[in-house]
Amino acid sequence: MIVHGLFATRVYAAALRGAGAARLQEALLRECRQLRHDDAAGRRWSQRNYSGGYTSYGSAHRMQQVSPVFAALERRLDVHVARFARELQFDLRNRRLAMTDCWVNIMGRGTAHGQHLHPLSSISGTYYVATPAGAPGLKFEDPRLERLMAAPPRRAGARRDNRQWITLPARAGGVLLFESWLRHEVVANRQAGERVSISFNYGWF
Ligand code: NI
Repeated sequence: MIVHGLFATRVYAAALRGAGAARLQEALLRECRQLRHDDAAGRRWSQRNYSGGYTSYGSAHRMQQVSPVFAALERRLDVHVARFARELQFDLRNRRLAMTDCWVNIMGRGTAHGQHLHPLSSISGTYYVATPAGAPGLKFEDPRLERLMAAPPRRAGARRDNRQWITLPARAGGVLLFESWLRHEVVANRQAGERVSISFNYGWF
């Protein structure tokens, strides 16, 4: 007897390592905080859309084009996105995956980010800059969930490949990549310390 596992959903996790990775992380943390300080439009946008936190999603979302530090992050992320594309066996047909958007998220206590996709993109992901102990990870939802009409629920403690929600930990210095259609959320940060991350999209050009 064999039970096939078909149509896998892949999520890529890696640590940014190598020369300068720790220095880059520190420089990014400084720039994220400086951006919040400088970006009045973003702070206003966040008051309406990102309660208790700051995001540059609505104001400064192409940081790789304006900051050499973010451009350095982009160069490192390009390598990981290329590896993930190979793992997914994408046939890129002489086109390439390139970063389109890159923005800052600072979650204070109580800040949450509800379920969403990243439309108009191919690969999306997050690099974690600062993650206080107990800060929430990234919660992914089974992309087939809306089709589960008469499917019984899964047992508590079901195998990971049978679960309908999986939370992967947010680790400072680490990156998570996923296909942009995969719905995800960040539940409320219950810690006093700020959870700082940089999210990004890659398109296929
Ligand atoms: Ni997202």
